[in-house]
Amino acid sequence: MSENVMIMNHPLIKHKITMLRDVNTGTNEFRTLVSEIAMLMGYEALRDLPLEEVDITTPIEATKSPMIAGKKLAIVPILRAGLGMVEGLTNLVPTAKIGHIGLYRDPDTHKPHEYYCKLPTPIELRTIVVVDPMLATGGSASEAIDFIKQHGGKKIKFMCIIAAPEGLEKLTKEHPDVQVYVGNLDRELNENAYICPGLGDAGDRIFGTK
Ligand code: PRP
Ligand code: URA
Repeated sequence: MSENVMIMNHPLIKHKITMLRDVNTGTNEFRTLVSEIAMLMGYEALRDLPLEEVDITTPIEATKSPMIAGKKLAIVPILRAGLGMVEGLTNLVPTAKIGHIGLYRDPDTHKPHEYYCKLPTPIELRTIVVVDPMLATGGSASEAIDFIKQHGGKKIKFMCIIAAPEGLEKLTKEHPDVQVYVGNLDRELNENAYICPGLGDAGDRIFGTK
């Protein structure tokens, strides 16, 4: 496994992923769980955000104390399902800017198609966290990161809740510079390129569509 991949091992994340997978978990609870897991994963993924010492005054005295430095974070959800992870991260970093990349998988070829891309500027100065609950074949994540690099993005992280080995291999091969944070590494893809055991279609479960 690439040294740029971190698989989460926190019991709270494991517990919430189990609840997420359950076919009896309804839309409202599913959305809440996706957001909570994103926040817990964000705590790990943002460990290396740069800090700078700033001058403040406490009720006792003047002092220097660390704050997040420079142009802050950009969070980039892959539409649609990635939207479900944004709130969890903005709870941690309310000043983060948000970009959007619209991709959908062709149901027959399973290849991603782009329909939207809008990123905050200056993208090249920001730490960019691309979020999508599912890394299946890896086509969507890899293509989204290609777009971000074409727009000038440099320091890129990718966060997903569930990954298939096939997608993780593709992503780390095509983007060895990207740090990847995975909630759980599942067994395999099925013939329809769905993750097994997985949780089904993340977008449909978040938005209550079919
Ligand atoms: C899902 C998921 C990922 C993609 C993963 O989105 O949210 O974006 O599939 O599959 P891949 O790794 O094989 O590319 P989908 O295309 O179903 O679109 P949606 O979010 O609009 O439902
Ligand atoms: N997209 C999903 O939402 N789920 C999968 O299992 C694979 C791709």
